[in-house]
Amino acid sequence: MNYVILELKDTVKGRVILTMRVLVTGASGLLGEAICNAVQKNHEIRALKGRADGDITDAGDIIGKIDDFNPDVVVHAAAIKDPDTAEKDPRMAYLVNCIGVRNVALAAQKIGAKMLYISTESVFDGEKRAPYYEYEKPNPVNVYGQTKLMGEQITMSLIKNYFIVRLPLLFGYTGKPQDNIILKNVGKIKNGEKVVAGADQYSQPTYVDMVADVIAKLIDTEYYGIYHVSNSGSASRYEFHKAVLEYLGMDDSNLIPASDVNMNRPAVRQRYVAMHNLALEATLGIKLPPWEEALRMCLDKMKSMNLVP
Ligand SMILES: NC(=O)c1ccc[n+]([C@@H]2O[C@H](COP(=O)([O-])OP(=O)(O)OC[C@H]3O[C@@H](n4cnc5c(N)ncnc54)[C@H](OP(=O)(O)O)[C@@H]3O)[C@@H](O)[C@H]2O)c1
Repeated sequence: MNYVILELKDTVKGRVILTMRVLVTGASGLLGEAICNAVQKNHEIRALKGRADGDITDAGDIIGKIDDFNPDVVVHAAAIKDPDTAEKDPRMAYLVNCIGVRNVALAAQKIGAKMLYISTESVFDGEKRAPYYEYEKPNPVNVYGQTKLMGEQITMSLIKNYFIVRLPLLFGYTGKPQDNIILKNVGKIKNGEKVVAGADQYSQPTYVDMVADVIAKLIDTEYYGIYHVSNSGSASRYEFHKAVLEYLGMDDSNLIPASDVNMNRPAVRQRYVAMHNLALEATLGIKLPPWEEALRMCLDKMKSMNLVP
């Protein structure tokens, strides 16, 4: 392991935690920014803030950038994450979510870095109607899920020291405000506009800061493998947005439940997907709280930043 000893940071139960160099892709996004915030507390960070810092589909460019920084860990969060965008342009989704992963993985392989690849609950079809374990067989139902699953396979085939972290629907205050699911809907309701949300599309809304803290802990270890990371419980998109408005004391009469899970959108959606965090609990002993508690923490933080009323 090529730890770079810049500073001795901490001693937990006699274990010395050494500062590592960590490169994060997708750092202009919701998750990437949260990961940078969490990881930079203990490590030296190089944040690649999306296409402004170079396109991951350009092999020479991304491999050169990763090589230059020579990280101990590469956290790969960049992706096309909108299922409809992926469905409408599968070629582009494949380029970013598969060829992009290959390029990042080749760079990590070349310098012997650990790699943490961000994946999704969308690798599962949701037909089980109960939470999935890490060992269960994926079966994606749309192009987004297919390309993210291929990203997992590419990571596993090129990298020995890999972490794959599958995530459900994320919320938080980081990333681009125009893409933020809380800010977008609160803004519309404030302006008197209607918001339609799936009443039969269930996931596990999960606070991105909690995911980022888990990732920061995981990369300090050598417990490689596949992890599910989600807040407990589940909610439909409608229940989630209702809970947001309720907590902020806002009128929810313009929040309309939609009964068709697909709502005429290009990509097929799963009605119910949830995951057990078996590997996380067994390995790091971390149990994440229910989504409602995590949402309250997030909204308190957003209030303190004057992002929501
Ligand atoms: N958000 C969720 O609910 C959710 C759920 C499960 C899994 N995930 C996974 O979590 C990861 C991060 O998602 P997110 O919610 O943070 O998405 P996001 O806010 O849309 O951020 C995506 C990031 O990827 C970058 N990116 C996209 N195409 C790129 C390219 N060709 N070259 C370089 N950078 C590129 C974007 O940069 P630009 O500034 O150039 O756009 C941005 O920094 C993804 O792997 C996604 O599949 C997300």
